[in-house]
Amino acid sequence: MKLMDHPVFRRFWYPTLSLASLQAGPQAFTLLGERVVLWLTADGRPAAVHDRCPHRSARLSVDSAVVNGDLRCGYHGWQFGADGRCTSIPQLGGEVPPDARNRVKAYRCEARYGFAWVCLSEEPLLDIPVVRHADDPAFRQVFEYEEDWAANMLRVCENALDLAHVSFVHRATIGEEHRPVAPRLTLRPLEQGVHFTCQLPVANPEPQQRNLRIAEAETLRTVDIRWYAPCTFVLHFTYPNGLVHQIVGFATPIDDGHVRRIQFAYRSDREADAPAESVARFDRQVGAEDRRILESCDPDFPLHTTAEAHMVLDRPGITMREVVKALILEHDPERERLRAELGGGRRQAA
Ligand code: FES
Ligand SMILES: [Fe+2]
Repeated sequence: MKLMDHPVFRRFWYPTLSLASLQAGPQAFTLLGERVVLWLTADGRPAAVHDRCPHRSARLSVDSAVVNGDLRCGYHGWQFGADGRCTSIPQLGGEVPPDARNRVKAYRCEARYGFAWVCLSEEPLLDIPVVRHADDPAFRQVFEYEEDWAANMLRVCENALDLAHVSFVHRATIGEEHRPVAPRLTLRPLEQGVHFTCQLPVANPEPQQRNLRIAEAETLRTVDIRWYAPCTFVLHFTYPNGLVHQIVGFATPIDDGHVRRIQFAYRSDREADAPAESVARFDRQVGAEDRRILESCDPDFPLHTTAEAHMVLDRPGITMREVVKALILEHDPERERLRAELGGGRRQAA
């Protein structure tokens, strides 16, 4: 069984499409292999239902429209509300006979941080992560990118916690190949997640010097990194001049080997200090470097700690495996069989 097939992953909230992109009309999103269609209802809230019409199985994201806040199928025009109930059959003068088969499966859907979040289960295990600075008027939100990567959700998240790769993968941007970094990490407790802090020396090339307003070829990040199970990472960087640049990244699982990478940042400076376009361009370049190497890794993510080799700096990734393992063993109906496969259920002390 591939890791992402465990039903526990259906019980989390995931960001999918931006609310801005839904302004154009209904759109499809594949979440954990399930086809979903999203749209904005009359009050501007996002709604999500199974992308398959119960009438003749057409995809509700194809040639559909939003009519009075409901989703109208592109094939014969049946309309559906956010709760999945059929609200109109135009060939019957809008009447809808009582029949359970007229319904489409609806998912829980919420707007947060400018994105439509979806949970495939009626019973999410955790709330949508609370991100620092999101409601702070002293910070601005900078949208950075939304794109699909052919990589596994947990490999992408582990990469965000992995500082050993910076010198090599990012040698064209923030890394210094001749000086592999091995910062001392201070791991801190975080329920259903990983949290650590450290000091990280980084290269500071020309475009980034302007973004940071630091005219030096190297600088130091005071780093606070958090991963919230299963797909959110928050990288909080404070620079010597006091500037805060906090990256909020997501690896929403499309399937085992594909994610929708969504990323934005919260900055303590203003547009006049560093244009959002320039800030986003630099972080996109760093992200493209990660993408190239992550797409070369196996699409599966073995949880058993004996499956791959490790070094001391991999400790956040190992703790991440223990968190995921504990979640699966606690909530998967097949937990007894899985215990041996995953290498025990005890969470290692961070
Ligand atoms: S297939 Fe959707 S209305 Fe007929
Ligand atoms: Fe990276």
